[in-house]
Amino acid sequence: MNILHVTAECYPVAKAGGLGDVAGALPKYQCRARHNAMLVMPMYQTAFLEKNKWEVHHKGRTNSGNYFFDYTIIKEKTNKLGFELFLVDINGLLDRPKIYGYDDDAQRFVAFQIAVCHWLTDWKVKPDVVHCHDFHTGLIPFMFKYCFNFRPLAKVPTVFTIHNAEYQGWMSWDKSMWIPEYDIWRAGLLEWKNVINPLASAVKNAWKVTTVSPSYMHELKHNSNGLELLFEYEKGKCIGILNGIDTEVWNPKTDKYLEAHYSSLTVNKGKKSNKEMLCKTFELDIDKPLFIFIGRLVHEKAANILPDTIGSAIHQLNKEVNFLILGSGDPHVEWLLEQLKKIVPENYNCVIGYNEQLSHIMYAGADFLLMPSRVEPCGLNQMYAMRYGTMPMVRRTGGLNDTVTDIGDEGWGICFNNAEVQELVNACKRAMHVYNNPKVMTALRKKMMKIDNSWENTVDKYIQLYKSVLLN
Ligand code: ADP
Ligand code: GLC
Repeated sequence: MNILHVTAECYPVAKAGGLGDVAGALPKYQCRARHNAMLVMPMYQTAFLEKNKWEVHHKGRTNSGNYFFDYTIIKEKTNKLGFELFLVDINGLLDRPKIYGYDDDAQRFVAFQIAVCHWLTDWKVKPDVVHCHDFHTGLIPFMFKYCFNFRPLAKVPTVFTIHNAEYQGWMSWDKSMWIPEYDIWRAGLLEWKNVINPLASAVKNAWKVTTVSPSYMHELKHNSNGLELLFEYEKGKCIGILNGIDTEVWNPKTDKYLEAHYSSLTVNKGKKSNKEMLCKTFELDIDKPLFIFIGRLVHEKAANILPDTIGSAIHQLNKEVNFLILGSGDPHVEWLLEQLKKIVPENYNCVIGYNEQLSHIMYAGADFLLMPSRVEPCGLNQMYAMRYGTMPMVRRTGGLNDTVTDIGDEGWGICFNNAEVQELVNACKRAMHVYNNPKVMTALRKKMMKIDNSWENTVDKYIQLYKSVLLN
């Protein structure tokens, strides 16, 4: 089957979060299952671009409203990622160092989508299915069906995966002029609650819609930032498919970012070496349990409760616990986390920023991973932590619910219901009990490391979904 993924991120080309990890792994494992998966994304100015060899694949000229632009599609020459990778270069618009965060992001991603449609319109043999990810690609299913210039794509099936419905890409109606000429009678298929809503539009127009875990699919009908009714109407074509993880990138036996490698047989020794390195670097006592948080410091991750939780836990547990945080996001939370260093210097440290290598060493060296997320469509961190023998401490929501079972239910993690400071502190107290019982801790580490969350298990679910649209 010929599958084309369209996405804003893909590891290791450009990554801001889990979307990048999924986009870098799913096509690779689809190719291993003997399908022809390809991926197209914007060409940002990244180290990956400079370090690899590229050939010009296609050149075109198109427009977004009054803005006429030339675009070039370049292709990576060696299939280094295990699948064909195409980048869309639009001069001045996409070729910037960051993926997101510019004032003209809306215009950038609309232009990207138009370029993709324009390019595909010229393909003689169309892909069997075009798989779009998140709202940055959410207008594509509409454009395929209703933009006059892209008529040859009207029958190409589209699948849309929601990685996060908190971000919907809302645009005021005046931006409709950016979308190439379309059947005006279908304008309603672009909107939700009187604004253009690319995520809602994708849910309406894609042939199938998926979320990255079954629990999240269920939750969206009750809590989806205003789209609850839409998910109720469209439930017939929606399905939750749990993400996998790339077990080659995330493997404590071979991880290129680790100096001390280990397996489930050598887990305690391996983790200790990595913990020593972390504790030395961050001036923490190696004998105390190390709790970490890695991620975007935003409301949905409940990052705002971290500073108080850390302060209270250190106090309530008589300074017997250490915390290390890696993340960036809300400037106020960043500031609070920085200030905390001065208040509890012996038990806490943080790195504000993004650091891929440090994240790997932290998963390997920590004892516990905190994930109090208010919303977590899937969550990859907890699966990485489990693979590295680090016990996940998660709020029961979305994908966390589908991947972590509490130790009280014969599982391997600590689960709680509310993103509240004292609940998280109580969870730390439960964690301390486990930590103080080395036999139990070792057995749980081994148990969680054996859980198979690899993509090999999941790829077939997507293939079956694609097949169901091909039969229509
Ligand atoms: P989300 O996509 O919502 O941010 P996920 O759990 O799906 O959450 O994936 C987050 C990914 O981003 C993981 O690979 C995690 O290790 C990585 N990550 C998040 N923040 C950072 C950071 N500051 N430095 C390094 N890696 C990070
Ligand atoms: C999103 C979600 C996260 C998920 C990731 C990959 O960023 O917030 O929960 O794991 O996408 O699907």
